[in-house]
Amino acid sequence: MTRDFLSVDDVSAEELRDLLDLAARVKAAPGEYAGRLAGKAVGLIFEKPSTRTRVSFEVAVSSMGGHPLALSSTELQLGRGETIEDTGRVLSRYVDAIVLRTFGQERLEALASAATVPVVNALSDYEHPCQILADLQTILERRGNARTVVTYVGDGNNVTHSLLLGAAMLGMEARAATPAGYEPIPQVVERARELAAAAGGAVEIGNDPRKAAEGADVLYTDVWASMGQEAEHDERVLVFTPFQVNEDLVSRASPDAIVMHCLPAHRGEEITDPVIDGPRSVVWDQAENRLHAQKALLLWLLGGA
Ligand code: CP
Ligand code: NVA
Repeated sequence: MTRDFLSVDDVSAEELRDLLDLAARVKAAPGEYAGRLAGKAVGLIFEKPSTRTRVSFEVAVSSMGGHPLALSSTELQLGRGETIEDTGRVLSRYVDAIVLRTFGQERLEALASAATVPVVNALSDYEHPCQILADLQTILERRGNARTVVTYVGDGNNVTHSLLLGAAMLGMEARAATPAGYEPIPQVVERARELAAAAGGAVEIGNDPRKAAEGADVLYTDVWASMGQEAEHDERVLVFTPFQVNEDLVSRASPDAIVMHCLPAHRGEEITDPVIDGPRSVVWDQAENRLHAQKALLLWLLGGA
């Protein structure tokens, strides 16, 4: 029975902690994992652009002795109408795992139902679970296991969903402040609340960025228009301007708060230059941790841990 990683909620709280422990060990001693994926091939399919996810997965696989195949959907028969299910059936005969970046979550679910190898969500419109593994690794590095208030400010999008689920699972206090009408979807909030209740955490959703930032240990933001929403960019800028992470908002957070962004950033929109380039910013560590966290995920899914 193979495991998939389509959502943060595909792992238990204990498995999430184990994955994050493994990610820390991989980061501390990468050489110990150098040959663990020898003889394994991983197909990486991108239906949207990517810098970090593509490069970190390729390097993660190759540096553990495996063979990554980065495939743009336009180069595959997928781009000419072959179904995602048939693509999954065929690729399962060649590769040991399939990583997919796509639009609808249902495409990932269709792929996982047809594939006989593990399927990983490399971002969908619904979730970005690999990003959140790296982000939780970064938060734990900075704050240990101390009770942490994680505040997300901006669009209630894929990153927000995974962050709420992951932070709740670890028993943190997860807050999100979005403009009205741009909240995270209710099913995710409800599930995050269940996870938080089980772990001793809390989930607070609202529309006031200043209130949400008050005393936060982590301030997190993401773009106002995600991939696929480019046409809405100009109208979103008008709505989202009060949700910018700038020095005023950061001054409301805890004095040693860290600032996070999954990147790519639209500097001057959701985050200002002095904040992203300032002393609180951990965005480059977050980007680096994509590599370590995804190594841990692949080791866990492919049995090389
Ligand atoms: N954060 C992230 O997933 O970046 P890419 O879109 O560059 O992969
Ligand atoms: N919410 C963004 C994240 C990019 C990594 C998007 O989906 O475009």
